[in-house]
Amino acid sequence: MKNTRISLTRHLVEKQRVDGHIPGQLRLLLEVVARACKSISHAVNKGALGGVLGSAGSENVQGEVQKKLDIIANEVLIEANEWGGHLAAMASEEMEGIYVVPNRYPQGEYLLLFDPLDGSSNIDVNVSIGTIFSVLKMPDDDRGVEEQDFLQPGRQQVAAGYCVYGPQTTLVLTVGDGVDVFTLDREQGSFVLTREGLRIPEDTQEFAINMSNMRHWDEPVRRYVDECLAGREGPRGKDFNMRWIASMVADVHRILTRGGIFMYPWDKREPHKPGKLRLMYEANPMGWLVEQAGGAATNGRERILDVQPRQLHERVSVILGSRNEVERVTRYHREAAPAA
Ligand code: AHG
Ligand code: MN
Ligand code: MN
Repeated sequence: MKNTRISLTRHLVEKQRVDGHIPGQLRLLLEVVARACKSISHAVNKGALGGVLGSAGSENVQGEVQKKLDIIANEVLIEANEWGGHLAAMASEEMEGIYVVPNRYPQGEYLLLFDPLDGSSNIDVNVSIGTIFSVLKMPDDDRGVEEQDFLQPGRQQVAAGYCVYGPQTTLVLTVGDGVDVFTLDREQGSFVLTREGLRIPEDTQEFAINMSNMRHWDEPVRRYVDECLAGREGPRGKDFNMRWIASMVADVHRILTRGGIFMYPWDKREPHKPGKLRLMYEANPMGWLVEQAGGAATNGRERILDVQPRQLHERVSVILGSRNEVERVTRYHREAAPAA
């Protein structure tokens, strides 16, 4: 713990003023997102007392049943961000189309994408959940904003992060010069810098995958996990541990903190779908954070950040975390016969 407490605000002001790493509008945007996360955190913490648990009785564009908190978090993010003048439009897991900033407010040059509430199946059982976000810049031309403007590969992100609502509320952020971690001080009401320049260990003995899908996996994923399970006596010559929280934020947070590999790969359940997780507001921001912390993120064949999105809610196969393990799984994909 540092002696001088650096708030998120001060950290961002210094990034803008001293280092010239971020423009003023981006600083404002990140502050507003953090404020929205703080308010989501309060709603999450109230739980049953705030009447926020349970299903909303509706479905999103992906055919998933929406929880009350999915909708609340989505509204909080929109209301916080629409009037500040820093955004042109927003896109969310919970909205079919893009949300263009209404005419009554000034339009900025940034695009914000989010998974307002990640890990929805964990809300009602009081397990860690979170918010994931990604920031892009509007392409340089003066016509009105369209969905097409969002379809940029992840390497063009200008900021990305997540907030995990767990035993602590923690905001993890990158603007392309490393990964910093902020913890919410509830008494002061502000995020405080608690770790700078996070690095993921290159090697790990911990993997995260939903094992109940094993029978549906592709051969390279099965090979990797089989070798981990074989432990000390197997080809890897060491024992592996397994964790699966079923909130990507919480699994990625563990990996950023102590290393590991996270996989939600393509599988044979619905072969036409490239994966379960969404490219634009789950895989891209997490992939960039992991890379910025020295790890790697691929879809088994190519770097996540190089995948050219064709639609807003596009799905992708995800393998991310400790560099050497991700490279191994990616190599297993290369060595296997090309996917159908
Ligand atoms: P969301 O709650 O935003 O729909 O995302 C859930 C995702 C991700 O957080 C997690 O890694 C994965 O779904 C868990 O899926 P399974 O229930 O299939 O394990
Ligand atoms: Mn999610
Ligand atoms: Mn979600």
